[in-house]
Amino acid sequence: MSLTIIRNARVVSPKVPQGHSGPLRGSAMAELEITPLADVTIESGLIKKVLPVAAPGKRRPPVPTGTNIIDADGRVLLPGFVDCHTHACWAGDRYDEWDMKRRGVPYLEILKRGGGIMSTVRAVREATEEQLAELLLQRLNVMLRCGTTTVEVKSGYGLSTADELKMLRAIARAAARWPGTVRSTALLGHAIDEQQPGFVGVTVRQTLPAIAQEFLPGSGLAVDAFCEQSAWSLDQCILLLSRAKDMGYPIRVHADQFNSLGMVAAAIRLGTRTVDHLEVTTKEDIAALGESSTIGVYLPMSPLHLSTPQGKPRQLIAAGGAVAVASNFNPGSGPSPSIPLTIAMAVRHLQLSHAEAIAATTHNAAAVLDLADRGSIVPGKRADLVLMRHRDERAIAFELGEPGVDAVFVAGSMVYQQADPAAGGRAAGGQKLTDTPTVN
Ligand code: NIG
Repeated sequence: MSLTIIRNARVVSPKVPQGHSGPLRGSAMAELEITPLADVTIESGLIKKVLPVAAPGKRRPPVPTGTNIIDADGRVLLPGFVDCHTHACWAGDRYDEWDMKRRGVPYLEILKRGGGIMSTVRAVREATEEQLAELLLQRLNVMLRCGTTTVEVKSGYGLSTADELKMLRAIARAAARWPGTVRSTALLGHAIDEQQPGFVGVTVRQTLPAIAQEFLPGSGLAVDAFCEQSAWSLDQCILLLSRAKDMGYPIRVHADQFNSLGMVAAAIRLGTRTVDHLEVTTKEDIAALGESSTIGVYLPMSPLHLSTPQGKPRQLIAAGGAVAVASNFNPGSGPSPSIPLTIAMAVRHLQLSHAEAIAATTHNAAAVLDLADRGSIVPGKRADLVLMRHRDERAIAFELGEPGVDAVFVAGSMVYQQADPAAGGRAAGGQKLTDTPTVN
């Protein structure tokens, strides 16, 4: 049995009422549970105790030999970030297309000309499963250093039975070598491959069942589509998603990124787990979403990168809805692997409060992935934790450019520690990791 104690932490967690299941909704997102100074005990990978401390120098009873003791020295301890919408598995790059975008060619025009998502599809088809896994693993490690301990990764750059399977296998292969948790999503309806006759029918009748042979319903895999002009139409999305739902998969959909095509209302009818993007969603659709069980996932890095309008999650929160926020890390519209930077954008551009942005990237993002065992710091939850450099959680959104992460724990094990060159390689902030029992 392994025992770890993180001492003197400012423990910051979404406030999840006891016995509550599912995401936090509406005004409940705005409440944090803050313990200004506490010792957090972790046993066998789970949070065992959060014990408030009267003063930093307070004497404590002795602890068993072999206990790992980390002194947080007043720094903020958060639940590990959950990035619930990424396209982090890709090959190649699209810097030439970014130059086109910078000269004013819109994202959808590049896609219509056979570029955008389709250029990444060509690069992914040329890569091997091993190469894709290696590239993904490198990106997952960068995300870990930004405090992400759970991540959703979509396929969607294969767009044939063999290449979608290759992507999903590559994601599983990288996941097996990464300390955090990866949930994969089969984004079968990402773009239309004009070179394949009857592409949508083939996807629904051949690719989806082939995937189901290997990635069974109930294994955590979700199925997703991109409802947009030059991508999948409303009817095509409904066809794919209803078939996937009938097979037992959770379903998700990219809706209203550039054009509102009626997908949000259809998603509510279908009972999708999420609708993602929502940049141009009408007030009426937001009101209906607020009354549904579908979670709205906002992706502020993309409108920032594409210079397009940001969504309005405040309206969804006011309507009593559940909001999650994710990085959307991808080679075209999602330049950042960093949840701290995404939080900073959510606070600035989505007008979320600090508390709402933290809830949206921890507890609510975990609810998107149906992971009820994480996302808050209470006894019994999995000890996926991030020790920040900051002593005030508002600094996460204030600072831009450096993630501010000093250490990351997955199921109680420290899997990343920021080195401090000035301390001769000791951990940043002077925290000590020792197996010698200490009594203050
Ligand atoms: O969520 N919009 C559709 N899919 C991604 C972008 C993927 C890409 O451009 O490669 C998104 O923004």
